[in-house]
Amino acid sequence: MAKVPNWQLGREMSYPYEKPAAAGKQFSAVFNINRCIACQTCTMACKSTWTFSQGQEFMWWNNVESKPYGGYPQHWDMKTLALLEEADPGGQKWDAGKKDPANAPYGVYNGLTVFEAAEQLKTGQAAIGYIPTDQEWSVPNIHEDTSTVFSAQGGQIPEHQTWFFYLQRICNHCSYPACLASCPRKAIYKREEDGIVLVDQSRCRGYRKCVEACPYKKVMYRGNTRIAEKCIACYPRVEGTDPLTEGEPMVTRCISVCVGKIRLQGWVNDEKSPINFLVHKEKVALPLYPQFGTQPNVYYIPPRWVPRQYLRQMFGPGVDEALAKYANPSHELLGVLQLFGATQKLLASYEITEDEAIGFNTSGREVVRVPIVEPVIVRPPERLNIT
Ligand code: SF4
Ligand code: SF4
Ligand code: SF4
Ligand code: F3S
Repeated sequence: MAKVPNWQLGREMSYPYEKPAAAGKQFSAVFNINRCIACQTCTMACKSTWTFSQGQEFMWWNNVESKPYGGYPQHWDMKTLALLEEADPGGQKWDAGKKDPANAPYGVYNGLTVFEAAEQLKTGQAAIGYIPTDQEWSVPNIHEDTSTVFSAQGGQIPEHQTWFFYLQRICNHCSYPACLASCPRKAIYKREEDGIVLVDQSRCRGYRKCVEACPYKKVMYRGNTRIAEKCIACYPRVEGTDPLTEGEPMVTRCISVCVGKIRLQGWVNDEKSPINFLVHKEKVALPLYPQFGTQPNVYYIPPRWVPRQYLRQMFGPGVDEALAKYANPSHELLGVLQLFGATQKLLASYEITEDEAIGFNTSGREVVRVPIVEPVIVRPPERLNIT
């Protein structure tokens, strides 16, 4: 395997290919878990656009699951964590002392990634993994709104004793995709222009190594065509070639419809992007299970009320800093948070003034302007509903 840099791990790691040609831009999104209401509008927007046909009945490219018990497919994360634990018992540890703002913002991960575990175990595979059963794919919303067991001791604010939260999931369009690495047919590719990861359906022969290797279980097998399918990041909208977009890059279906305005899309590797600010500068948005090693490009603002230990396992050791920033936001962060869900246009850059957040499209034209603090209007006495 080649050695490639993984900034989320703070070190180099093994990967079957040399670093994929540096994507000019990298498709990316930030999801603010604190704001999600689990309405599943995102889920249905994706389904009614891309997976409404025969053979796709159990395919949910976007899903929202209730943690800690829910999962689609069921137990996907616990199973992958268990495989890593089996490969390297007790090894999934971070060295926070080696934190370095430029190269190792979360410290250094000393455990094995899914690629390194496969290498160490001499599996002959690109990554460790497993193929979920049909049963595990069949119940996407199992354990919705199910909390942890109530404790008589009561909660300790800000963490709650009894808790659950919603985890919104699409393909992460990883910088080091395990799906791509595992396919013997080289049927999966990552586009240089925007980093979107796609299955070439004319090359795919249904080997399902991709389904096995993706630690997030975001490649799905379609029985009636015998090929793999996955989230395509709504690429016609991102390209601006969808008739609706009138030539201008737009955000994806699941992002544009979000009722809770929890989602923001942009280019994580562009200094001017609000996503770059949230991930690299403010460090308030974190990767999902960075220890898997694929360098995922969907980031999360973690939920404030959940025990830190659980969150650190899920989002790495950057959780405490992220939550401290989110609980006491800077003026710039407050402004950028207002841009979530404010427009369907893809925001390439932004400006925060004293009282407004302004978003610009890729050609630098202003496309949205929102107040940072909503004006409070007090109803005058003569207009009161009750006297
Ligand atoms: Fe959550 Fe938005 Fe999806 Fe509703 S549409 S479930 S608020 S991510
Ligand atoms: Fe591939 Fe899975 Fe990463 Fe998506 S999340 S790019 S399917 S490894
Ligand atoms: Fe579906 Fe598009 Fe969202 Fe991917 S980006 S989950 S294809 S709506
Ligand atoms: Fe390759 Fe997956 Fe198809 S491994 S052949 S893309 S099912």
